[in-house]
Amino acid sequence: MTSSEIRSKFIRYFVEHGHTEVPSSPLIPEKDPTLLFTNAGMVQFKGVFLGEEKRPYKRAASSQKSMRAGGKHNDLDNVGQTARHHTFFEMLGNFSFGDYFKKDAIDFAWELLTKEFQLPPTRLYATVFRDDDEAAELWKKYLPADRILRLGEKDNFWQMGDTGPCGPCSEILIDQGAQVHPDCPGIGKCDCDRYLEIWNLVFMQYNRDAQGKLTPLPKPSIDTGMGLERITAVCQGVLSNYDTDLFQPIFKAIAERAGKSEQAVRGAMAGRVIADHLRAITFLINDGVIPSNEGRGYVLRRILRRAARFGKQLGFHDPFLHELTGVVIDTMRGPYPDLEQHRKQIAQAVLLEEERFIHTLNQGVQILEGIIAKVKGQGIQVIPGEDLFTLYDTYGFPLDLAAEMAQEAGLGVDETGFNAAMEVQRERARKSWVGAGEEERGAPIYRALVEEIGKSRFTGYEHLEEEVTLLAILKGTDRVTSAKGGETVDLVFNPSPFYAEGGGQVGDRGTLSSPTALVEINNTVKPVPDLHLHRAKVIQGTITVGEPVHVTVDAEARKNAARNHTGTHILHAVLREVLGDHVKQAGSLVAPDRLRFDFYHFSTLTEKEIDRIEARVNERIREDAHVETEVMETKDAIATGAMALFGEKYGEKVRVVRVADFSRELCGGTHCHGAGEIGFFKIVKESSVAAGIRRIEALTGPAAYQHVKNQERVLREVSSLLKTRPEEVAQKAERLNTQLQEKDREIERLKSRAAAPASDPLANARKIGPVSLIAEKISPAEIKDIRAQADRLRDRLKSGVIIVGAPDPKGEKVSIVVMVTPDWASRLSASEIVKGIAGLIEGTGGGKPEMAQAGGKRIEKLDAALEQAVQVIEKMIGGN
Ligand code: ALA
Repeated sequence: MTSSEIRSKFIRYFVEHGHTEVPSSPLIPEKDPTLLFTNAGMVQFKGVFLGEEKRPYKRAASSQKSMRAGGKHNDLDNVGQTARHHTFFEMLGNFSFGDYFKKDAIDFAWELLTKEFQLPPTRLYATVFRDDDEAAELWKKYLPADRILRLGEKDNFWQMGDTGPCGPCSEILIDQGAQVHPDCPGIGKCDCDRYLEIWNLVFMQYNRDAQGKLTPLPKPSIDTGMGLERITAVCQGVLSNYDTDLFQPIFKAIAERAGKSEQAVRGAMAGRVIADHLRAITFLINDGVIPSNEGRGYVLRRILRRAARFGKQLGFHDPFLHELTGVVIDTMRGPYPDLEQHRKQIAQAVLLEEERFIHTLNQGVQILEGIIAKVKGQGIQVIPGEDLFTLYDTYGFPLDLAAEMAQEAGLGVDETGFNAAMEVQRERARKSWVGAGEEERGAPIYRALVEEIGKSRFTGYEHLEEEVTLLAILKGTDRVTSAKGGETVDLVFNPSPFYAEGGGQVGDRGTLSSPTALVEINNTVKPVPDLHLHRAKVIQGTITVGEPVHVTVDAEARKNAARNHTGTHILHAVLREVLGDHVKQAGSLVAPDRLRFDFYHFSTLTEKEIDRIEARVNERIREDAHVETEVMETKDAIATGAMALFGEKYGEKVRVVRVADFSRELCGGTHCHGAGEIGFFKIVKESSVAAGIRRIEALTGPAAYQHVKNQERVLREVSSLLKTRPEEVAQKAERLNTQLQEKDREIERLKSRAAAPASDPLANARKIGPVSLIAEKISPAEIKDIRAQADRLRDRLKSGVIIVGAPDPKGEKVSIVVMVTPDWASRLSASEIVKGIAGLIEGTGGGKPEMAQAGGKRIEKLDAALEQAVQVIEKMIGGN
């Protein structure tokens, strides 16, 4: 029998015996803050066992995706070491909700195992809870007394978590033979696998509360669980789950990728860890978990990194897990078809995390090198546990790697200290996880209210007002009979037209009035299913339980929320159209004044994509398609292609919201009647929420209009400041920018010149025969400044010729000043010199023997003119 035959045979057997087949719920337990992961088949039925939730059947059977990593049932550290522990596994189970009890549960189990699966009755054993005479008696029908054993709470009392439904149980075991452990002392006395537990029948009878107190359930019920991996191993006659057809294709793919034999991979602990973890990783991401530093995401991160680490032992040094998620999907897509839809996303999410881990390791190596140096400097022989734990916890740097590096440096590691720090952390994590919120603590009172007044009836799809009786007033979790002006209370009335927060849409607000009082309702929530709780503040007067009141939903807020909700659906459809089918909703917020949509997509949206998305949504709005809602069977809805949420749990019936033929989603929210009512859709922000998740924030209707008005006002203000028309703001700004840049450059130039040590012109004085000459070009200056500079130089030179030239500050012309000291003035006339060089700058000039000047247009010829002075002077001296 193949594993899939076993899976279907199990379900078929129970369906033939009056059970309804119920699909697996996601690995993330919905609305159960006490539980990290779905860890058994009964999790999705918790509310049914407690009597809080009704289903249209009393018998059910399922094959449930389960995880036992973190939380109460944690097998993570055993994985790979044993033949039968897994993080992810499938649990086959049959359930009775107050219908059959112990007798039928035992009869069904026996018949299925011995007739359908044909296990030899002589090798089967049963255990029962120590004082469960009834179960022991029932087993006598099938087993001799010496194969019925009584054990204590540890083995034969089952509970889901620290709280929740629980009860004594009876386990069925199979003797796998002496080959496993010849001298096994027997069931309950040995940890070996000789007597392998294959099926657990729980006789659900109690609910355990946070204080540990047991209260009887409304009706005794049955919850059973049989690990598919184990029963498959037993039926296929192998001793290890890893030798079954569930794992074969996975080992084959790992072996191929590693260039090793299948046998070598399966034989190595590393191979088994990777095979197990690959399944967990694939299914967790499929159900919407993303690697992170807390809660479920942290467990996923640890599993993924553990697998990556073991990969090294098989010779993988680059990311490899992401490629292997595909084989898990190939093996499991039959019973879990949604895996196929998320193939790409899963691989991408794994790759991202693998890359991040490599980065982390490199970072960790550096930090550890620092620690090693520090420790050595202090003359200590051992790296403290605290340091190792920080490395592990903050940088994800594994202890064994740290130990290896320490050893290379001649140091040891304080493993005890590391474990102690880890324990402290675990305790903290556990506390924060179990610390359920106020709603959870208040749950009994809310449940009692539902019992008393019946399920809430929501009439808000049809109308926004009701005449009702005020049924209850709560102050915190205390019931009171009245409330007066100024008090903040929670109100219950039924029916209610107020939409209670859910599916991303915020709760309705509005008012409640009586002839003598006015109350503001600020929010509506559902602390437990079936109860509408209205969070309110009494504005004036007094309200009293039992009096008739008039309640009105704030129509405008509701209408705007509807615009955002329908807008969100259209956006979702358009994102898939523009970016591809891999886009799926990861979360959303629908409020009256805004919407937020998170979705799986692996790259930043380009400006072009954002424009296309926005344009397309608006096009859809202008088409004014009809929005229709319909209540139908969940499986029919999914079959018609309605979009269900990644990781969401749905009831038997669902409401489907359809916008023309392009959007179809399971949704309980309130919507527009026609898409045109949205008016206008405007994206205001696109960002990243986590690796692989993008966020779009947008506005619709009046808020979108107001946003555009605000932008327009800003533009007007800017254009008035820039003294230009709005259309030309960009060009004007660009021009200003260029000018500013030019000015900056000029300032830089001036600064550097001012800062540079001025070379002393005197040092550059040349000798032309007996005459000293200073010919200097200075930065742009007015003629009087040029003259002043020439004056200064003359005073310093004492004897000789001084020529100073510069362009004027506007850069339009160039001036040259020539001075001759009195001792030379009779032989070298300044005005003669000027005349000799002015031609070059196309200028004219003149003056006296001791001082002359010229002005010309050819700024670029200034250097040549100064140079020419040398020849002019030479000639004048020579001529004498
Ligand atoms: N809920 C029971 C178990 O997990 C059947 O063992």
